[in-house]
Amino acid sequence: MERSYALELDRLDPLNQYKKLFYIDDSSVCYLDGNSLGRLPIETIQAVEDLLKNEWGKKIVGGWTDWIDKAQSIGDLVGRSSLGAAPGQTLALDTNTINLYQLAWAAVKSNPSRKKILIDRANFPSDRYAMEGIANDLGMELVYIENEDLRESENEIISNELLSKYLDKDVALVTLQIIQYRSGGLNDYASIEKMVRDNGSLMLWDCSHAIGSVNLQFDKHKIGLAVGCTYKYGNSGPGAPGWLYVSTELQQKLNVPIRGWFGVKNQFAMGPVFERSASIRGFQISTPPIIGLKAVEVGFKMIEAATMELINEKCLKGTDLMIALYDELLKPLGFKLATPRDSTKRCGHIIITHQDGAQIAVALRQLKNVFPDYREPNGIRFSFSPLPTSFVEVYDGFKRLKELAESGDYKTVTVQSSKVT
Ligand SMILES: Cc1ncc(COP(=O)(O)O)c(C=O)c1O
Repeated sequence: MERSYALELDRLDPLNQYKKLFYIDDSSVCYLDGNSLGRLPIETIQAVEDLLKNEWGKKIVGGWTDWIDKAQSIGDLVGRSSLGAAPGQTLALDTNTINLYQLAWAAVKSNPSRKKILIDRANFPSDRYAMEGIANDLGMELVYIENEDLRESENEIISNELLSKYLDKDVALVTLQIIQYRSGGLNDYASIEKMVRDNGSLMLWDCSHAIGSVNLQFDKHKIGLAVGCTYKYGNSGPGAPGWLYVSTELQQKLNVPIRGWFGVKNQFAMGPVFERSASIRGFQISTPPIIGLKAVEVGFKMIEAATMELINEKCLKGTDLMIALYDELLKPLGFKLATPRDSTKRCGHIIITHQDGAQIAVALRQLKNVFPDYREPNGIRFSFSPLPTSFVEVYDGFKRLKELAESGDYKTVTVQSSKVT
């Protein structure tokens, strides 16, 4: 494949104007880690500065008149731009794990006669640990769906057939990711949701790697419960607030474990007991993180303008290109693809494995200015963040990876016990 092919993909890309809206400090970097942390939109710098000076700085506590409902209004923006969700079902606040915990607890408490929680073995650590805690604390059984082996042709995907082996009438809750964080496999969330609900169980989705890449259609597919973050394809910044989604139908049936003053009907009545708000506000505990939400607003307005249809198309073209480059350049060198080739079963990232994966991932950054990340046991993850990434960036990155592997130069690098991989 010639470089001109990637340049032509960029020329034809309807979203090619977005890259220049991001702050890019070093144009020689091939940044292929946007599913870990997205790039900084230039507008965020000004928007946060304006908020600090003109809102917090000038209005001080008076700012709360405008800020008090921000978790809802920015939540609606997230829902509208990226989840296919009508207003009043999404809140932007807290972190992915806190939101997951709250909704999982609420879900199992709503179905007390059932004693099992299902989660897949390959799920993100936080999700597994949170469910382990809930199962222990509530005397439930945590059942793992066995899907962990990256080498399997299934690439961690939860097929209906696999799930049906575990789904019985004692299951209160199933929690899965829409995109597997490691393999990049895309689960058929619409049919899994239906299967789980038909079993009388609740389904809770972690959408961390799906939001801003998969064109999610929550209302259409009657999705009940979901959480996700904003700092990946949402480009909202390190540690930016996450979001939770509860369908209108489930809002009356569930109660979160922590009762806070933001969740009541009449917040400033400062009443003696907790009278839960009937709206999505009943799922909010605390004061919304206003500075972080400003960055979320910029990130998701960009997604709204670009549209999820085009974003999703571009993600698939990006991972198509990665797989074509893998076939041509990397497969002959002993790398293995551990992401589905089928474009209906993946979206914004791929993972390739190599026995020296950890060292290669470090050397790519140190010697070649290419940013992937590394996931145990031996996977190098590459993502195509649809707004700031160009096709030629992928082409150059993969060429540099081939050179690195062929030359063996990566062997000169030591994998230090870095805190972050
Ligand atoms: C799939 C998935 N779930 C959960 C998390 C944890 O998110 P947080 O640290 O915001 O709780 C991450 C973080 O990257 C993730 O990728």
